[in-house]
Amino acid sequence: MSGEEEVDKNKRRILLAAATAMGGIGAAYVATPFIISMDPSARAEAAGAPVEVDISKLQYGQLLTVEWRGKPVWILRRDAEMLKNMMSLNDMLRDPHSDELSQQPVYAKNDYRSLNKEYMVMIGICTHLGCAPTFRPELGPEDLGPEWKGGFFCPCHGSRYDLAGRVFAGVPAPSNLVVPPYRFVTSTRLLIGVDPEHA
Ligand code: FES
Repeated sequence: MSGEEEVDKNKRRILLAAATAMGGIGAAYVATPFIISMDPSARAEAAGAPVEVDISKLQYGQLLTVEWRGKPVWILRRDAEMLKNMMSLNDMLRDPHSDELSQQPVYAKNDYRSLNKEYMVMIGICTHLGCAPTFRPELGPEDLGPEWKGGFFCPCHGSRYDLAGRVFAGVPAPSNLVVPPYRFVTSTRLLIGVDPEHA
């Protein structure tokens, strides 16, 4: 094989590798338009260390799942409509004002249960018997009814939560989803497992 042919072959290999990597990224976004599963560098730290998460690519309406202390932590980016819809639900919720203090740090005891109302951070484990609720962001789907404004539905026994993890009244789950300690390192980087410096 001539030297030129060898260079061409190598070039082709590199291009193919790049195209495959790009294809992989594209497919992940297309297949899961609302949910991204991420394996942060911190997987190795799952034993308990804080987990730093880059949220710069999180779009409105998307849910990112990371692992912290062996548990799924959801980060949901909520748009203005989602926030507005949530506020119309208070009468249907068991603990709309997050009065049960064990379910969130003090800095998340507010209308949006968050440090920044756009980003909701919560542990994705149902407070009934520990199943994994599913993310149901759509409005009024047939199976959940016309009143549904987007939220989380637990398939095990039918518990429902809104987009802040606030539990509806009359379902088996006794309390809101847990908000873990977290803080913003920058406007696009979160640290899960650590309180804000002046909390
Ligand atoms: S575990 Fe979720 S409703 Fe029972």
